[in-house]
Amino acid sequence: MKELLQSLTPGDRDWRLASELDPARIPAHIAIIMDGNGRWAKRRNLPRILGHKAGMDTVSRIVETCAQLGLEALTLYAFSVDNWKRPRHEVEGLWRLLRYYLRREMPRLMQNGIQLVAIGRLDSLPPEVRRELLAGMEKTSENRRMRLNLAINYGGRTEIVDAVNCLVDEARLKGELSSLRITEEMVSSRLYTAPVGDPDLLIRTSGEMRISNFLLWQIAYSELYVTDTLWPDFSRAELLEAVLDYQNRERRFGGLSVDALPSVDSASFSLEEEALELPLA
Ligand code: FPP
Repeated sequence: MKELLQSLTPGDRDWRLASELDPARIPAHIAIIMDGNGRWAKRRNLPRILGHKAGMDTVSRIVETCAQLGLEALTLYAFSVDNWKRPRHEVEGLWRLLRYYLRREMPRLMQNGIQLVAIGRLDSLPPEVRRELLAGMEKTSENRRMRLNLAINYGGRTEIVDAVNCLVDEARLKGELSSLRITEEMVSSRLYTAPVGDPDLLIRTSGEMRISNFLLWQIAYSELYVTDTLWPDFSRAELLEAVLDYQNRERRFGGLSVDALPSVDSASFSLEEEALELPLA
């Protein structure tokens, strides 16, 4: 956080936004659905892949800002299990971009202490993409400043299915399958994102009000921030605005806010009972 302020020009917009942040309430984990690359390209009469290329530059910018903010983890939705339905040249272009990104950014990931973790069904990726991703993960495995989860060939439902199958396989190996009872903690601990905690904030760019099969289990209590800005245009300032917006929310995790809590004396309990007017005796 201090580092972010030091890297900015005092008085400019980003600096003013960063100075408004409460350093004690920076989200530990942000997840982003990076949408709108295609529309960005279309508006400029460019091929879709150039929208993805511009999106890749936004990835570099946002990863760096998140590390400077002091996040523990950033999870980016880069390729879903359903994105294979896109034209072959677009899918192949995305793999080329990903490989280029890994080569270009590796020195910066190392310098900034960022651990790269690819999450998703990596076995079905083209072999060279998989190889370079695994090499990047290996190279950055000791970095501890921030974890960058890149969701690739990722699906929220597939992730839950994989976690449950993993628990079943483990129980079978131990000869405990017939007594297996699955708890929430057990599923959480086998998700691709473990051991990182659930996202505090989920950002979606380009205005669609959908979750698109992203982190279905983990976002149960995440705060949502949807902006009309297309991903290639998503700036550092907008990220800071999203975090400021998050800091103005009250997170209740299904409970009540402090000022809505009733007093615990028996008089107020019977007042609530009377107000309900549902005699059950
Ligand atoms: C959604 O936009 C974006 C994707 C399916 C791919 C995301 C890829 C990048 C941001 C670039 C490469 C990433 C890395 C990590 C190097 P869309 O194509 O669905 O946009 P549209 O809805 O406007 O068509």
